[in-house]
Amino acid sequence: MAQEDLFKKLIAHCKEYGYVFPSSEIYDGLGAVYDYGQYGVELKNNIKKYWWDSMVLLHENIVGIDSAIFMHPTIWKASGHVDAFNDPLIDNRDSKKRYRADVLIEEQLAKIEAKIEKEVEKAKGRFGESFDEGQFRATNARVLESQSKWDDLHNRFAEALNNSDLAELKQIIEDQEIVCPISGTRNWTEVRQFNLMFSTDMGSTADGALKIYLRPETAQGIFVNYMNVQKSGRMKIPFGIAQIGKAFRNEIVARQFIFRMREFEQMELQFFVRPGTELEWFEKWKQLRIKWHQALGFGNENYRFHEHEKLAHYANAAVDIEYKFPFGFKEVEGIHSRTDYDLSQHQKFSGKKIQYFDPELNESYVPYVVETSIGVDRMFLQIISAAYHEEIVDDANGQKDTRVVLRLPAPLAPVKLAVMPLIKKDGLPEKAREIIEELKFDFNCQYDEKDSIGKRYRRQDAIGTPFCVTVDHETAGDNTVTIRYRDTMLQERVNISLLRDIILNQVGFRKLFTQLKP
Ligand code: GAP
Repeated sequence: MAQEDLFKKLIAHCKEYGYVFPSSEIYDGLGAVYDYGQYGVELKNNIKKYWWDSMVLLHENIVGIDSAIFMHPTIWKASGHVDAFNDPLIDNRDSKKRYRADVLIEEQLAKIEAKIEKEVEKAKGRFGESFDEGQFRATNARVLESQSKWDDLHNRFAEALNNSDLAELKQIIEDQEIVCPISGTRNWTEVRQFNLMFSTDMGSTADGALKIYLRPETAQGIFVNYMNVQKSGRMKIPFGIAQIGKAFRNEIVARQFIFRMREFEQMELQFFVRPGTELEWFEKWKQLRIKWHQALGFGNENYRFHEHEKLAHYANAAVDIEYKFPFGFKEVEGIHSRTDYDLSQHQKFSGKKIQYFDPELNESYVPYVVETSIGVDRMFLQIISAAYHEEIVDDANGQKDTRVVLRLPAPLAPVKLAVMPLIKKDGLPEKAREIIEELKFDFNCQYDEKDSIGKRYRRQDAIGTPFCVTVDHETAGDNTVTIRYRDTMLQERVNISLLRDIILNQVGFRKLFTQLKP
């Protein structure tokens, strides 16, 4: 199936099965804003738990906070967001559509990359077992030509971004003959900067309301609480502060479903370290974070690091963790070495001392910071894209049938088990309810008695429920049930008393956490 079709199916599936709905849908929706449904919210909560516990539970030197969305407006002046949190935008005069100039060029780079990958895939098929990919990439004329085009474009793009050279960005778009996807023309305006922060007024306008911003990142709430947490928690450097919360950006290129939203949620860690050790910690966090992703079992080859073309104004090193979405490798998480920029700026703008007395060095300094920052929604999309599978299987009558299954890692699945009476009489529903009454203290359980058992299995597969437990006529006699495993579709007969342990062994976070050891 073409990746584009797969992505459309995924979006439809999310809506049909209560994962994600367009916001304000009965009023025709609101651009790039989405609501999470009954299963979506459970998956989202489980993602947050996986992140939060892996930070706060597994590291004795990391604590969490929950700071307010509304903050003093000077914070955004100090952080540089008022002056520099901009996107370079370009309009197409014919379609009247607005685009991010950097995204247009990135898409052009991705096209060249895709061409190279296609050549490699073709050759793989031709040469079979004896294929030496490294040698092919280093010697094939077509690959080398594309690679050289990619390198030239990439270097030019990085330089233009680093110099904030808007005229050069426009020139690249023209030279690359990039067309508007809607009008198909190259009738572009100049490139202009556009600030991404939403603002609103606090207090009544009559007596001079304060213009405040909806935070575009949760990080600043951590920086301005650095002294509070360090003092009240008697924290010793190195230590970290973690936070999960909403962020808002007036994104212009709002496409690809929940990949780029105007209201979204971030999970951010600011890790405070001794100056001069930040690049060492940056490397450590890079490795820890990729492990966190790979532990989910979606294939290590689907993740990669991507160095930034342009470092943000506050960073001395930055890398993204990218995942291979149906629309190509894209950023899921950013890891930044933010130097002492933010704390120093807040020290300057607030006039308050923000320093750490290091007893080992017997001196005070402004700590350096390594940040890991990941979007909950983007992680949600990553997981659901990786988990969605369509398979041809035999149905109960031996006929071929398509089964749609969400192969979600069991600890993240919204519903852990469905309990089903084979038929709706002979005391089977009562027995099924009895099992739920016992297991609901540990797991999110669902009772399902409607339709044939085959249909009920398919429904649970589509939601991603890892276990289905069926109560039948044997159950009353020997206290056993069948347990059916989502991924293999295998069934086995087990005693009801064993259910809790079998399920707990799979759905607990322990298995994931034990893979995260540094
Ligand atoms: N504090 C650093 C920071 O905010 P960022 O790279 O701008 O860095 C971090 O954002 C992460 O937040 C991204 O890797 C992405 O997962 C998520 N994110 C950013 N903008 C987003 C948007 N408009 N919609 C959904 N997620 C977004």
